[in-house]
Amino acid sequence: MSGSEIESLRSSFQRLRQQGMVPALIFYRRLFALDPALRPLFREDIEVQSQKLLNLLGQALELLERPTQLTAVLVDLGARHVSYGVRDQDYDTVGQALLGMLQEALGQGFTPEVRSAWTELYGTLASTMLTGATKARRATGTAMLSSASRAPSRIMAVTQ
Ligand code: HEM
Repeated sequence: MSGSEIESLRSSFQRLRQQGMVPALIFYRRLFALDPALRPLFREDIEVQSQKLLNLLGQALELLERPTQLTAVLVDLGARHVSYGVRDQDYDTVGQALLGMLQEALGQGFTPEVRSAWTELYGTLASTMLTGATKARRATGTAMLSSASRAPSRIMAVTQ
């Protein structure tokens, strides 16, 4: 990831942060509209969960120059997601909800450069988390429960 992409990510995230909880709430609204079956997986208060998601994205942006540390955080996070009942194909849905939220929250600021930087970042986060998920399933012998193991692919197609 180039220096200017990292700059695009950090400055657009800064603009999200200035909007408080709104972007995270937009994200969950979009996610549950895309796939209502995901709603019951979230047992915690959605505002608390929203905060955790934004904090994690902030942490990922801080760790971009320390990839080893970032990978370790994401592999563990992906492993925990198996126990939350998350399936591999749900990462595509989350990617679509995330890009849709960025477009809605950033408006004119959602330039092609910003969009491409976030698409790349999400692809990296998701594929690293999926590595952790695969390891966790192997460790617990539940590999058969994974109904699909494809990398996020549809997120490039998000336009709204
Ligand atoms: C890059 C992708 C993702 C990131 C950064 C992310 C981040 C997080 C974080 C930080 C937590 C807090 C708990 C913890 O640290 O273990 C969490 C919990 C959770 N995430 Fe994700 N997540 C991602 C993808 C997904 C996907 C694809 C799903 C599928 C629907 C999902 C569903 C959940 C659920 C169900 C919980 C537990 C919530 C609860 O107990 O109420 N996440 N996520």
